[in-house]
Amino acid sequence: MTDKAKILVTRKLLTVNEDRLRADYDATLSEDDHVMSADEVVDAAKGMDALLICVTELLDAAAINRLSDSVQAILTLSVGLDHVDVDAAKARGIAVLNTPDAVTDPTAEIGMLLMLGAARRATEGAAMMRAGAWNSWTPRMLVGTDVTGGTLGIFGMGRIGQTLAKRARGFDMSIRYHKRNRLSFDEEAGASYYTTVEGLLGASPFFVITAPSTPETKGFLNAERIALLPDGAIVVNIARGELVDDEALVAALKSGKVAAAGLDVFNGEPSQVHPGYLELPNVFITPHIGSAATNARAAMADMLLDGFELLRAGEPVSNRVV
Ligand code: DGY
Repeated sequence: MTDKAKILVTRKLLTVNEDRLRADYDATLSEDDHVMSADEVVDAAKGMDALLICVTELLDAAAINRLSDSVQAILTLSVGLDHVDVDAAKARGIAVLNTPDAVTDPTAEIGMLLMLGAARRATEGAAMMRAGAWNSWTPRMLVGTDVTGGTLGIFGMGRIGQTLAKRARGFDMSIRYHKRNRLSFDEEAGASYYTTVEGLLGASPFFVITAPSTPETKGFLNAERIALLPDGAIVVNIARGELVDDEALVAALKSGKVAAAGLDVFNGEPSQVHPGYLELPNVFITPHIGSAATNARAAMADMLLDGFELLRAGEPVSNRVV
């Protein structure tokens, strides 16, 4: 018999995290890293104290209502919560913990990468090199959009948005933003607040989405809102694919209304990504790697386990959502 807490871990974590889990918990680790269906999670959760899941495990209300009474906490290795019905968890008295601070820096880094890659035509440059098609340097080759000194509109100005703004200031960009509640003077750090996202869109030659996926933001960047962007805008999404109407964005990328897009997140990821994004040369894409940096990824799991320890000790937990 062991009095160590029983934790089900749905996916393979970094070795350092799995070592901690093996040492400090009665952990059931993933053998083959497959995505667990809700039924599998419900089944494997029997007798568990906590579930350490990822964005790949979709726990809707029906699944949460079927979880074993032993489950005290769902620890999600993400800041995003769109895959977990937190209200259903709350109703059952199951705590939900996420990883807010740990993902901030690496996700903002990917935001900069996507903005730079899209603006400076990195997809076309890499393709040309790999195809052996680079024959000559010429003043007209792959001329992109200047990032330095540009104007960046950020939709959603939470931790990631604010950190992205800080990094972008290093490129002398002026920052504008919209979020439901205006930031404090200090948090704004000189960024201009737009009371409506429509106003922000019209004033954003670079437009980055960092807002969470909610029923209100689903399909946010549709044809009507894209039409508000300045011609030749650069669009970046580091939030969730659901915020974008893919048909509308692909059409805008084809027409040149949007000069280029940098995307890390997609509707239907990983297997049903809109083919337009894979084909168009003015799209710079990465496979949902916002938080995929060594220290950050390790810190994400640590944050969850540290929080779970506090929870078990009856202490307040800063990354507890419900
Ligand atoms: C998040 O944190 O929500 C990322 O999308 C996955 O780590």
